[in-house]
Amino acid sequence: MCGIVGYIGRRDATPILFKGLRRLEYRGYDSFGVATVGSALEVYKKTGRISDNEAEVACLRGSTGIGHTRWASYGEPTVINAHPQTDCDERIAVVHNGVIENYNELKRQLQERGHIFRSETDTEVIAHLIEEHYEGDLLAAVNATLAYLQGSYAILVVMEDAQRIVAARNASPLVLGVGDSEFFAASDLMPLLDYTERVIYLEDGDVADITPNRLDIYHDGQRVERPIELINWRVEDARKGGFAHYMQKEIFEQPQSFYETIRAGIDEHTRRMIMDANEITLVACGTSYHTTLIFKYLIEPLCNVSVRAEMGSEFKYFTPPLNGLVIAVSQSGETTDTIAALSMAKAHNCPTLAITNVQGSTITRVADRTLLMRAGPEIGVAATKSYTAQLAALMQIINLRCDGAFDDVLSHAHLAIGDVLLYDVRDAATLCSKANHAFFVGRGPFYPVSMEGALKMKEISYVHAEGYAAGELKHGPFALLTPETPVVAICTPGPTYSVMVSNIKEIKARKAPVIAIGVDGDKELAEIVDVFIPIPNTHLLVQVLTTSVVLQLLAYHTACALQRDIDRPRNLAKSVTVE
Ligand code: M6R
Repeated sequence: MCGIVGYIGRRDATPILFKGLRRLEYRGYDSFGVATVGSALEVYKKTGRISDNEAEVACLRGSTGIGHTRWASYGEPTVINAHPQTDCDERIAVVHNGVIENYNELKRQLQERGHIFRSETDTEVIAHLIEEHYEGDLLAAVNATLAYLQGSYAILVVMEDAQRIVAARNASPLVLGVGDSEFFAASDLMPLLDYTERVIYLEDGDVADITPNRLDIYHDGQRVERPIELINWRVEDARKGGFAHYMQKEIFEQPQSFYETIRAGIDEHTRRMIMDANEITLVACGTSYHTTLIFKYLIEPLCNVSVRAEMGSEFKYFTPPLNGLVIAVSQSGETTDTIAALSMAKAHNCPTLAITNVQGSTITRVADRTLLMRAGPEIGVAATKSYTAQLAALMQIINLRCDGAFDDVLSHAHLAIGDVLLYDVRDAATLCSKANHAFFVGRGPFYPVSMEGALKMKEISYVHAEGYAAGELKHGPFALLTPETPVVAICTPGPTYSVMVSNIKEIKARKAPVIAIGVDGDKELAEIVDVFIPIPNTHLLVQVLTTSVVLQLLAYHTACALQRDIDRPRNLAKSVTVE
């Protein structure tokens, strides 16, 4: 998704802006741009990736500036459509995250009044509206403009001859960093980590007027105070630290992030909220949705509580009858569909809990309470350590509802995760890298684990993969099985073991190669499959974690074999802030 940065202070803005934009690269982008205010307003825009020496090449002057990475929505990824967007006279520059829903109408009206548009973006209307309302005061012009905008936005605005940034937020994240006689702005914490640990999260409807020595925040025209909070992430966490990819580093960080999330525990108010729930509905998207399905499979047979796991993207339009606790799960805390679902739950007067990795994210402002995962910054687009940290949070809820029955299991689970990290899955990865299609199958909680394995495989290796409940393959997908279609099967001890073995034999009879993940010493399984990956024979909760990590490694090594752009897979964004 798009990312924005801003700087105002005494330093040269350009290197700070480009460094900030590099920190936002993980969100995904296809073009970028920067505007600075020195003796004049200067704008630099390009398509493609930001190079190491972009600041020198751009050669902009000034200690006030704004920057943007664009993930094309309205209009192709071209230089003209890249942000900053400017007004007719190119005196005002705007960067914008979000979507202006009524931009067509606004654009038509502005064109009728003589404004000349250059781009196809919705953002450009903001620059022209500010131009139209400007009567000597940029803040007043931005305020007047906001009254016309429908949709979501986080914007930064600069103007020639003004050492000033005006920032505004509505339903798109915007955080300010506070330095000494300098301020930073960004769509998330990453660009701020290099400069300050003091941040201010703007609220929806806030407008900030920023000069090097002064920050004024207004809401509904009134000056308001917003607290300065301390960031709990370190800049080292955002570096690759000797690993080939962020994804690999983040896979290896899982013992720690799981342990830290368990160690942080659940506060008393949230515990009461969880214990009081007769019914639990979870909402989430993508990988986070898979963790909610795993939770449902695990908790229902153990505790007397009925659980529904719903996709955020469907929930808004097909809302089930709502009673009881609603839990929204989101690594970023910014996923639009999940936040919309959470807001609907609030509108139904349900108690709400957010499970997220990002302190101060939008979801934490919407939910009644927050359970913060301790995964640290996750930069690879593929969710890995946030997935297991979500499971840590959700497994604690199971443990709470089961009167602490899994205290011991959970406090040692990180060791088992550590045990599988060094597994050599290259034989299996070679098989997958030669395939165009693959299936991932399991039963019970291992069905959503398989869905997650397939999602990881397709998003970073581009091998088409589907996660299926093992018993469902014969109801259609069997038609696709060939010697070139590997099937990854999770087959661990338990009530479904023998039926899984039968399923694997059926798959083998259709000549599809099988990669099985089973427990150490399972000779029966090892003998019937093509590649056997043994994991330690542990508690079910731990097996869910270890099998998941093996599947992450499988996807990672397959993508390496295919030389994919692992941390920035094509067409994907880390944080999905549009519907
Ligand atoms: O930030 P969220 O957890 O709300 O993101 C939801 C999905 O976009 C995300 O889990 C996505 O599916 C993963 N990045 C895939 O690895």
